[in-house]
Amino acid sequence: RPSPAAAPDRLPFSRITQEDLAFFRKILPGRAVTDPDLLESSNVDWLKSVKGESEFTSFHLKIYFLVVIIFNSSILTSSAGSRGNTGLVGGSVPVYDEIILSTALMNNILTFDSISGILTCQAGCVLENLSLYLEDREYIMPLDLGAKGSCHIGGNVATNAGGLRLLRYGSLRGTVLGLEVVLADGRVLDCLATLRKDNTGYDLKQLFIGSEGTLGVITSVSILCPRKPKSVNVVFLGCETFEQLLKTFQLSRGMLGEILSAFEFLDSECMRLLNTHLKLRNPISDCPFYVVIETSGSDSTHDGEKLHNFLEEAMTSSLVTDGTVATEDSKIKALWSMRERVTEALTHDGFTYKYDISLPVERIYQLVTDMREHLGNRAKSVVGYGHVGDGNLHLNVTSPAKDPALLAAIEPFVYEWTASCNGSISAEHGLGLKKRNYIYYSKPSQAVALMGNIKAMLDPKGILNPYKTLPDDLK
Ligand code: FAD
Ligand code: MLT
Ligand code: ZN
Repeated sequence: RPSPAAAPDRLPFSRITQEDLAFFRKILPGRAVTDPDLLESSNVDWLKSVKGESEFTSFHLKIYFLVVIIFNSSILTSSAGSRGNTGLVGGSVPVYDEIILSTALMNNILTFDSISGILTCQAGCVLENLSLYLEDREYIMPLDLGAKGSCHIGGNVATNAGGLRLLRYGSLRGTVLGLEVVLADGRVLDCLATLRKDNTGYDLKQLFIGSEGTLGVITSVSILCPRKPKSVNVVFLGCETFEQLLKTFQLSRGMLGEILSAFEFLDSECMRLLNTHLKLRNPISDCPFYVVIETSGSDSTHDGEKLHNFLEEAMTSSLVTDGTVATEDSKIKALWSMRERVTEALTHDGFTYKYDISLPVERIYQLVTDMREHLGNRAKSVVGYGHVGDGNLHLNVTSPAKDPALLAAIEPFVYEWTASCNGSISAEHGLGLKKRNYIYYSKPSQAVALMGNIKAMLDPKGILNPYKTLPDDLK
């Protein structure tokens, strides 16, 4: 087994020469970026924890990709450019001098069928722009996340992003109906179906969903979109214990049923960081745990009645100690920001060690408590938040600066703890560079070996996003 924390050695890829650059500039006027200042943001990840040394970004189109293959250089697909690069596992930045292929200019909506709700668009469309486009047509995107203003749909599919609506609309593995992908040998795989049902052979698009740019470059996506709900309510509640929070979750499933669209949580440490770093005020009284519940339905009277009954029951049975309800847009946004902006608040607290764990839902907060005890005063903050409805904990640890001793105290402790509960060490962010060597905690060796076979078949020269996702012992 490789040493998990070790930096991978540079693989023997070609290096870009002045002649190569001249060639690129000739066929891609204005689209071949070598200016170090412009490249700076593409070489560093969102968390500012991983830095590469790429000297070249190319602004997309399939033909560029073919050219790159001829040169046998390594390629990293990223949403890099003015937006994108919001991945949280170091998957979207180069490790050495990989060429960065940006999809930022591939931002056209191709078709939208207002009867089926199926949208097809290019990979560089910003998620929020797609949401706005659909809202004008009484539809919504089936996924929503805090990075919506920056991330691209191609990046979302490549990471199989989960987000805030997964509880209601399911994973992209269900809602993505088709993909167009450029393969490592330059062939264009047209699986851009817009059918809800298609059992003709293997479902190849699934290979690329969540493959983090290691198997092909996603250029277009077709996706099934839900109708825009006519009535949306958001409540922000406080609970004394995590046990009560879980009971509140159970109660909400029973009493809100089909209108429940999100059940998210944050702990009091997150609230402290929101107050301190972003000046966001707690909308209710101080509690150890906070819950954001969203309902989405088609009848405001019906939904309001259900929510009222649920809240009454939760309050009278003392499951929640305080709460506030929002029905109008601005307050809904304000309540959501208490959950969505925790990620941003953490970056102001210090260097962030970020863990994204799937566990049986009743165990998720125990990991935070155990980690706090395990680290004692070695960490600045240890916080827990996440998608309760999906059994997905976000455990984050901060320190004033990068701290290898702290990292050694967190890992492999966090992974061993997770494996002991048969959890997943990456629920929704992927493995990227940072977690590639920990894959064995969640997948048996045979499964990892088969992944290696698939990689070798689709990308025999290993040029697509090297050093990512798969462990070093497979390379
Ligand atoms: P990038 O960061 O540019 O790339 C991510 C990976 O995908 C890289 O490995 C890259 O090589 C690959 N890639 C990108 N585009 C393509 C393509 N066209 N073809 C092939 N490979 C490609 N994630 C969640 O799951 N749920 C959340 O709730 C969530 N919230 C977030 C909130 C914040 C504030 C931030 C910063 C991140 C959040 N994320 C969340 C992380 C999430 O993975 C990304 O936000 C998003 O899915 C990545 O999209 P991107 O366009 O920025 O991709
Ligand atoms: C979230 O749910 O807020 C995102 O996955 C980002 C994070 O983990 O910080
Ligand atoms: Zn998340």
